[in-house]
Amino acid sequence: MWNRWKIAQSKELDCWVGNKDKIQSAKYQAAKLKFWQGTLESCGLDPDSADIKTKKVLDVGCGPAGSFILIDKNPDYWCVDPLMDSYLEQFPQIKQHEVKFFNQKLEDFRTDRRFDIILGFNCLDHVDNLSAAMDKIKELSHPSTQIIISLNVHNYNWLQKILARFSPILDRLHKYQYTSQQYKSMLVDKGFCLIKEFSADSLWKELEDSLADFNVSHKSFWNYLRFSPGKWFFGLLGLLGIAREGYQNPGNPSVYSVRCFILKPNED
Ligand SMILES: C[S@@+](CC[C@H](N)C(=O)[O-])C[C@H]1O[C@@H](n2cnc3c(N)ncnc32)[C@H](O)[C@@H]1O
Repeated sequence: MWNRWKIAQSKELDCWVGNKDKIQSAKYQAAKLKFWQGTLESCGLDPDSADIKTKKVLDVGCGPAGSFILIDKNPDYWCVDPLMDSYLEQFPQIKQHEVKFFNQKLEDFRTDRRFDIILGFNCLDHVDNLSAAMDKIKELSHPSTQIIISLNVHNYNWLQKILARFSPILDRLHKYQYTSQQYKSMLVDKGFCLIKEFSADSLWKELEDSLADFNVSHKSFWNYLRFSPGKWFFGLLGLLGIAREGYQNPGNPSVYSVRCFILKPNED
């Protein structure tokens, strides 16, 4: 039967495995390491301190090159991703990081443990059940858990309405399509208190620019001719000067931005 999330997940795996040479290259790993260091620093966490190296950390939807690449060994660093078994098989170098991996959906994850830090980078817009995933993050927190969530958010309300409806055709990877304001009100309704938010666009742009050599084929003219409604839709928006696909570039409006939210659970 047609399942929106399963299709997105199969596309997600294709994207990572299709870029296997890139992901496994020393250049990518170094760039991603620098990216995670910058991201955690922007969130007020010192990537070199004992915090993430010794505390109970949960990385939700870690992917094959998630924040765990900062960690040599911390048995209390837990990573939950429903594609984890495939990532471990396709990218065996992951195993050099002595953290704990779980091949599960966040919504289905069961443990009595409460985490000191919960990280969810570019994950909640990919989950199967957003409401249940937010509830689970709350359940796995204690009153002083530091929660850091980053998400692709829409910059234009009218594009959000179109993509929310037609994402199975236009943006298959992301089941959930909301603005920053919409995500914030959901998080507040779920019992989180927003401590700080900031744009992570410049961090992403720096990462993408440092890996630009790998992306040449994706930008070719012939690539746009391949049948892909999403590529055509975003290509047209770009041609009309309305908005570019992807994240904010200085002077260019973009469809999405990456927004980072630092949260705490409300004491209830
Ligand atoms: C765009 S990737 C982000 C990977 C990594 N956090 C990073 O930023 O490099 C999204 C990840 O979320 C995972 N994901 C999808 N649904 C999920 C769910 N229900 N629970 C946990 N992770 C999920 C996907 O398998 C994928 O690895």
